[in-house]
Amino acid sequence: MLFERVKSLDHILEAAQKKGLKRQLGAFDLTMLGIGAVIGTGIFVLTSVAADKAGPAMMYSFVIAGFVCALTALVYSEIAAIVPVAGSAYTYSYAVFGELMAWMVGWALILEYAVAAAAVAVGWSGYINGFLHEIGYGLPLFLTAGPFDRVLVPGTGNDSGAGLATAAGGFNLLAFLVSLFVTSLLIMGTGKSARFTAVLVIVKIVALAAFIILALPAVNSANFEPMFPNGWGTPLSGVGVLGAAASIFFAYVGFDAVSTAAEETKNPNRNVPIGLIGSLTICTLIYLVVAYAAVGAVGSQPGGELSLSKEPLAFVLREVGYPAVGNWVASAAIIALPSVVLMMIYGQTRVLFTMSRDGLMPAAFSHIHPRFHTPHIVTQATGLAVALFAALFPVATLADISNSGTLFAFFMVALGVMVLRRRDPERHRPFKTPMLWMVGPLAMAGCALLFISLGWGTIQMFLAWATIGLIVYFSYARRHSHLANHPASD
Ligand code: ALA
Repeated sequence: MLFERVKSLDHILEAAQKKGLKRQLGAFDLTMLGIGAVIGTGIFVLTSVAADKAGPAMMYSFVIAGFVCALTALVYSEIAAIVPVAGSAYTYSYAVFGELMAWMVGWALILEYAVAAAAVAVGWSGYINGFLHEIGYGLPLFLTAGPFDRVLVPGTGNDSGAGLATAAGGFNLLAFLVSLFVTSLLIMGTGKSARFTAVLVIVKIVALAAFIILALPAVNSANFEPMFPNGWGTPLSGVGVLGAAASIFFAYVGFDAVSTAAEETKNPNRNVPIGLIGSLTICTLIYLVVAYAAVGAVGSQPGGELSLSKEPLAFVLREVGYPAVGNWVASAAIIALPSVVLMMIYGQTRVLFTMSRDGLMPAAFSHIHPRFHTPHIVTQATGLAVALFAALFPVATLADISNSGTLFAFFMVALGVMVLRRRDPERHRPFKTPMLWMVGPLAMAGCALLFISLGWGTIQMFLAWATIGLIVYFSYARRHSHLANHPASD
């Protein structure tokens, strides 16, 4: 009885009233789109978290996380090309596994999108607070981080990092405000322009290139010793190379933006995989060189200054004698990161919107504003939740929790693609995952490995969130579902 409510794929496609979007995107456009969605708080901020968990061996963490994402991306594109509709993994799961699992995936996507938006907002606040401090207009420390976070007291510690002092945060004001600002842009229906995205991609790439050019010559081999201060890491410990890989996975999230553009792509069979793998390869290479340069230039032992910095890339440049460029890189992050917050909140509202249209979330969530033509109520609710999360929690906690939801959703997508190949082999597939029977299980294994490497604390939060999800499903969503009175729509 629990798994009987399934939506047919054809029904989903009809209901989405395909708009017949013009196929105009090529491999290059998709690659830019991918890079635009991917590069953000992960590399600009979580580099310090990775340093804290793995030390110099965090370079391996970047490779492991990138590899798992590449496998997932290949599988993701197959289903995205079949069902190119809003709602992503939630919608696919409705067709393949039925309502209960779709609900659980949609519930997990709240972690993937809303919590990730909060993480990026907090990452952004680290840069703007550092910048304001540099130019003499720093906010009081308790307004620069949430109550569960600690901030480095400027001016403490000697060159080797000894004597560093930290203070407790209170309310992360700027992270709160940027979330509300981005939300208001989304309500008014502005801010998602392709040209603007392209400019921001260039800003981010130029900033990272400047970082690499200036930090690489300062690399000192002594800074790589010891290479593995926390070893490879054990499951549930949340530290070591695997623990850092599980956190830095966040730096790659967002590539699914490429899959969802499959419908607008010329020759998707060729261009979608090029866009996905191309953007992931470029990001992995950039990330690796940035990590190598950061480690080599200032050292990255757990508990050291890099691992405590809230703006690690700007910190490294200031340390190696380029404070002005450090400020410039900080400005690039300050300009570019809000667009990643915007994409994440946008993704969240579209998932909730789709769930509301299916009756699983309150009907108000699919209400469209008469003048702006945007789903304003769900956007307001999402924006407020994101702003509060961002004001209260540290970036590393938010990123890890977000990763737990994303890894669960990716795991289910990989499973779903394999089930669908067996169940519906004749369906037209604009893109077919190469070697699915190897790539699919490997993607699932990779997601499972990173999930258990997140650490027990994060997994407990995920389980608590999943339990709340089940309670909401059985007490509300199941009864309000549009499939409640006519179980199978096909
Ligand atoms: N990958 C995105 C970032 O690092 C979410 O900000």
